Order: sequence, then C-alpha cells, then structure tokens
Amino acid sequence: MCGIIGYTGPLEAQKILLEGLAGLEYRGYDSAGIALCMEDSHIYLAKKAGKVKNLKEYCEQQVTISSHSGIGHTRWATHGGVSDMNAHPHRAGKVTLIHNGIIENYHALTEQFHVQDKLVSQTDSEVAAHILDQLYENDPLVAIRKLASLLEGSYGFCIMFEDQPGAIYAIRNVSPLVAAATHSGSLIASDLTALIPYTREYFVVPEQRIVKLTPYKVHVYNLDDTFSKNYPEIMTVNWNMDAAMKNGFPHFMLKEIHEQPEAMQNTILPRVNKGVPDFSDDGIPDEIFENCNQVQIIACGTAMHAGMVARAILQPVLRIPISVSVASEFRYEEPLIDKNTLAIIISQSGETIDTLAALRLAHQCGSTTLAVVNVKGSTIARESDYVFYTHAGPEIAVASTKAYSVQLAALYMIGCRMALVRGKYTKQDACGFLAQLLDAIPAMETIIGRKEQIKKAAAHIIQSPDAFFIGRGLDYAFSLEGALKLKEISYIHSEAYAAGELKHGTIALISDHVPVIAIATQQHVYAKTISNIREVKARGAFIILLVKENAVVDSELADIQLRIPNVGDPFTVFPIAVALQLIAYYASLAKNLNVDQPRNLAKSVTVE
Ligand code: AGP
Repeated sequence: MCGIIGYTGPLEAQKILLEGLAGLEYRGYDSAGIALCMEDSHIYLAKKAGKVKNLKEYCEQQVTISSHSGIGHTRWATHGGVSDMNAHPHRAGKVTLIHNGIIENYHALTEQFHVQDKLVSQTDSEVAAHILDQLYENDPLVAIRKLASLLEGSYGFCIMFEDQPGAIYAIRNVSPLVAAATHSGSLIASDLTALIPYTREYFVVPEQRIVKLTPYKVHVYNLDDTFSKNYPEIMTVNWNMDAAMKNGFPHFMLKEIHEQPEAMQNTILPRVNKGVPDFSDDGIPDEIFENCNQVQIIACGTAMHAGMVARAILQPVLRIPISVSVASEFRYEEPLIDKNTLAIIISQSGETIDTLAALRLAHQCGSTTLAVVNVKGSTIARESDYVFYTHAGPEIAVASTKAYSVQLAALYMIGCRMALVRGKYTKQDACGFLAQLLDAIPAMETIIGRKEQIKKAAAHIIQSPDAFFIGRGLDYAFSLEGALKLKEISYIHSEAYAAGELKHGTIALISDHVPVIAIATQQHVYAKTISNIREVKARGAFIILLVKENAVVDSELADIQLRIPNVGDPFTVFPIAVALQLIAYYASLAKNLNVDQPRNLAKSVTVE
C-alpha cells in the first residue's frame, strides 16, 4: 500500500524523505517520488517508477538540492499503470500533493472542474491536485475544507502550496496518518516506521481534521473552521527501531518466523491470572462473552484463516453459532447479526479498509465489536468497542507469519475465557486449555530448529506450477493458510482442499510429481486422511506429510515426512503454521524471488 512521509524543520529534507521512504518499502509499492520546497519557495519534484533506490540514484545525479521541507510517497498502483508520470507527488499550479487511498468520484469531479485537458497522468490523485489548485486563493485551510466536502472515498493527503514555504498540510479520511513535532522538526507519515528514527512520541491524525506542520509544531484544525481545542492523544511507540530492522536475518520474513515464540509469550503471559485467561487490563468485560448468542468473525487473508481455525476449535466447545466471513463479502451479504452478536474483527495492521468497513457495518447492526489487532492506535482498534492487542511487534514482511500465530493465541484465549464464563469450562478445564496453549510455544521452537529439513522438502515443490494442501477438520483449516503463504511468495498456484472433497473433482488435477502437502494431526480423522493421501499417491502425487512424532505411518506412504511435536490436537496449528511458513519461505528463496515484498502485494490493504 502507498507510503507517505512529510518533513519540515532544520535538517536536510531530501535525506529524511528518502530514508523514510526506504523504511516504508515493506508496505509494497511500484514507484516513488519526493517534492522539496526550495529556498526560493519553488517546489522541486523528482519521481520514478521502480524502487526507492531508483529515485535515490536519480536524485544523486541531479544538482544537490538544499531544502528543509518536503513530502515523499511510495505508490501502490490503483488508477493508472506503473510509470514516472503516474508516480506521486502530483503538481497542479501552486499545489503539490501526495495521496494514499481512492477517490471514488474522481470521474465526476474531473468533468465538474474541467480538468481533463490538464491531466498528464491517469491518476485520481492528480485530479484532486488540480481541483485543489482551482479552489485555492490564499488560504490553504479554506481550500482543503472545500476539497474535502467534494471528495467521496478514502484519502490521506500531504500537500504543499508554493506560496506557503516550510508548511505542510494534511488531511485524511480512512487512510491512516501519524504525526509528531520533534526537536528535529515536524514529521507526518502513513505509519510509525518512518517516524521512529526521530521520535517515540506521536499522535494519530484524526479523521476529517486538517493538520499543518511547521518546523517545530503540528497544528490541528477542525473542518468546520474552528481551531481544534482537543489535541489528539500523544502516544508512545511500544517497539524500537531494531524491532523494525532485520537484525542479521536475510529477510524480515525469516526473522519474524523466528520471533513467533517470543511474540506468543508476549501476547499470552500478561493475560494469565491464576492459570486462566484474564482480560481485566485490556478493559474487556466478561459480559460481552456471557450475553452474546452468536459470534461473527470478520477478517481478510491470513487473519481470516486464523478465524477459520478459531471457529473449528471453539464452536464445539461453546455450542453457539460461530461464523467466519471475508470482510469484503460480509459487507454485502445482509449479515444476520444484531445486538446479541459478538463481532470479532481480526486485523494485523488495523487499517485494512474492507475489514474497517465490515466493523462499521457490525456497529450499524448493533453488535458488540472486539478487535484483535497488532498495531496500537490503528483505526480498527480505535473504532472497536473493545481491543485485544496482540504483542507481535512490527510485522514488516508482507507475508504474515507471527501475526497469524498471535491472532490464533488471542482467539484461543478469548474462546477459553468465553467457555469459562459461560460455564462450558470449569476452572480446571480452562487451566488445562491454557497450559496446552503454552506448551505449543516450545513446539514452535522445535520446528524452527528443523528448518534445514524443511528447506529440503521445499526444494521438491518449486518445479511444479501447482501445489495442493490437504487435511480434514482442523488440518483443513490449517492448510488454508499454508496454501496462501506458498502462493503469495513463491507464485506457485496453491490450493487448500478438504481431503475428503478431492475425489469429487479436483483429484483430476493430480498427476505425476504434483506436490501434495498433507496434514494429518487430528486423531479422530487420521485414518480417513491417510486414505485420502493414498488416493493421491496412487495417481503419482509427491507427498509431503506433516504428522505428529508419535504417529504410525507406512514408510511408503509419503515421499517426505515432517514430524510435529506431540502437542494436543487443537494446538498442532502452532508448530504446523511454522512448518508451512518455512516451506513457503524456502520455496520463494529457491526461486530467487523477493520474499519480503512479493509482486503486486501490499502489507496493509487500505484500498477496496
Ligand atoms: C497474508 O500473508 C497477507 N499479508 C494478507 O492476506 C493479510 O493477512 C490481509 O491483507 C489482512 O491484513 P490485516 O491483518 O492487516 O487486516
């Protein structure tokens, strides 16, 4: 997703902007650009398709620019292809701006303001620049307010006006922005990674408020022409720059796979009280668990897969309907939720626009909302009734790993607490469940220790254009995430399939050497799963089998066996997840692909 950074202060702006954009690369992008306010207040523009290093090399070839304020942007294309011209910033008359989001009514506005003939790019952002320039007379706040009243859709804008040297204006609707006034100057960015080198104190730019950055102060204005009296809450960053760096690992993804045991401990242990889950410090009351008659889980991608696992574990215990919906679908499926529904919203970034829209719909339906979020102060966290923050630290790799594990830990703890307060679990049951959850952590360490064996297994996959993940029950729920991991970073078409369903059509795709990653850790369906594995083996599949250490397996069944420590069946997802993440990681590595920033993908999808 697009990255934004703005700076004004005593230091050289170009260096700060380029370094900030490098820190935002993990978000996923395809072009980058900066705009600098020159000493004569002229605005210098440099923008290039490709990586930030392309832009940096271009800037180094130009005459050295001395500037103390500017804006920078990494673009993830929504309107218009990847090109220098479509890269941000966009200039129109006195206005230069960068934009994250989608202006949904830009076609109508293009006609209304007759800007078609002025456009040099195919972007909605440039349309906004031209309109703002038309609205601008001599007061940026008035012009920005007028622009905001016209726009439909999501936006995070940073704006410079040629006759306002040293000032940077910003406004947001959905697309996140954070800002800080520091001793080094004032900064604004799409996320904390770009601010951390300069400050640990920041605030989240509130929706529909205009901020004006001057060298040592950030001013906040309301849209209704009044000066904002209630300054946003100043927050403190809860992780350090090292956490956002690779620390000696070749890739963020491998680092974050290794961080999972610690992330699990940091998420679970602070919420254990006398052996059972306790959310008092989170401000999550038992009433929301006692009073609901159904649970609706809403998320996207990996977060949705965590929801699928949680549903499979918790519905048999709680004996109430637990539904899992893809957020982008949920919004349009006339959901049967109401005030008696507990809506659990899962999001690592807390900014996924589909999930945010689903959260807002859940509120409109009168449901109580509980967010499971990793980024403190994110939009979904702030808009939910209650928040269970996971403590995974920053997840930089686009492919989600530690966030998935801690989302599961959170959901398991929530389910355990819910079972306890609803009388489905005795205190002893809850203690036992939580103890088994904690036992899963060393099992993850064990699998991390077997990564060389897993690397060998991955080598057998990369030759095939397709791969299948199969399992029954919980193993099928686990396989969904395994398939997503493999496809998103190795570009191998991967499908997760209920093992018992293959023979109803898809088995036609199994032929010699097609890799099938089979998961068989659930005792009550083990024999049936083994039968399904034999069916694909008989048709030439290359079998990579994930089973528990104490499982009895015919030696000729699988081409490769990956053994999983003997944790309880409901908890095998944690070591299994690590194994499937490592399979995907090594497959991507073997194909010399960009593991941390796969093509077309963004870390936080803030456009619909
Ligand atoms: C998974 O590896 C991807 N990063 C993606 O599916 C992600 O899980 C999804 O976009 C949801 O993001 P969120 O958790 O930040 O809402």
